[in-house]
Amino acid sequence: MNKKIALIRGDGIGPEIVAQAQKVLDGVAALYGHTFTYDEVDMGGVAIDRWGDPLPAAMLDKCLASDSVLLGAVGGNKWNDVPGNMRPERGLLRLRAGMGVYSNNRPAKIWPQLASASPLKKSIVDKGIDFIIVRELIGGIYFGQHKTEETDGQKTATDVLQYTEAEIERIGRIGFETARKRSGRLCSVEKSNVLDSSRLWKAVMHRLAGEYPDVTLTDMLVDNCAMQIVKDPSQFDVIVTENMFGDILSDEASMITGSIGMIPSSSLGSSTCGLYEPIHGSAPDIAGMDIANPIGTVLSAAMMLRYSFDMPAEANAIENAVSAVLDAGYRTGDIMPSDPEEAAGCQRVGCTRMGDLITGMLRKD
Ligand code: IPM
Ligand code: MG
Repeated sequence: MNKKIALIRGDGIGPEIVAQAQKVLDGVAALYGHTFTYDEVDMGGVAIDRWGDPLPAAMLDKCLASDSVLLGAVGGNKWNDVPGNMRPERGLLRLRAGMGVYSNNRPAKIWPQLASASPLKKSIVDKGIDFIIVRELIGGIYFGQHKTEETDGQKTATDVLQYTEAEIERIGRIGFETARKRSGRLCSVEKSNVLDSSRLWKAVMHRLAGEYPDVTLTDMLVDNCAMQIVKDPSQFDVIVTENMFGDILSDEASMITGSIGMIPSSSLGSSTCGLYEPIHGSAPDIAGMDIANPIGTVLSAAMMLRYSFDMPAEANAIENAVSAVLDAGYRTGDIMPSDPEEAAGCQRVGCTRMGDLITGMLRKD
């Protein structure tokens, strides 16, 4: 198969991690006889520097003309003082909206090889951690009106959190369908004891529940959910939630699995052209040092093969290669065991070497 992939290397560690994922994709192409071609897209700080805009229209067009988009990360201290609507992150939000990718899927799964890297007690980890956060991605407070006004020397800042029933329904359906393919348990997370938008969210979820009798729907308030994720993550299978709650809970969920550096994500809308990115940021403090963990990006590429290109065997080949590299004891710094005895059985490697090792372990599934 021929596929055109838009590559957004971005800022900070973005270029290093995307280079590893590209190497792995090329390895898969060679193994399975596919041709992947790449279209370079500037977004984020690099686009501000080059074009004066975090996402120039021509760059969004390149993404829309591709079969899917692979993104590293954007942002960094260098652009902290640019106005809000010109920040690197705004480029990312505009890209998600421009592509219409309303459904963000963030798996939180513990790799058995990394169980000791979890900050949770062994007794909790041993009960199992394997759930998915389905996050609404192009609505809510990140996309409502933002403004800062000044009256009598006093500033007031406002961000609007708004959801329509239709926006809630389309992400709700993804939640139910995802749960249906797994163990049939869906937890809808909101703050309906305070927010109108959450009360509407809850009402829509319960209306939809009637259409999915095979799925058991439960509700949870977001503050309680934050607590339950560290208390007993084994209770969760699929969580569906709005944009900001999903942003926050997915960072928490990633940490309990050992490292945010391991977690990929997929974002899809109504077409198969998706956006694939690790959930960590651009980590400017370690950029250019060749020590970043590329696995979140490599696994994002695997999700692209699975969900956008309908290549499940190829996706498995990548995931198996990652597992084999971990089995062999190779670790980037973020997943190196802190226990000296355990660390003795591991070898610390950099970003490029990790990419080479995963590529070298690729076998036909
Ligand atoms: C994420 C990030 C982004 C978000 C930022 C960079 C805008 O935190 O993908 O989770 O909030 O969506
Ligand atoms: Mg985030």
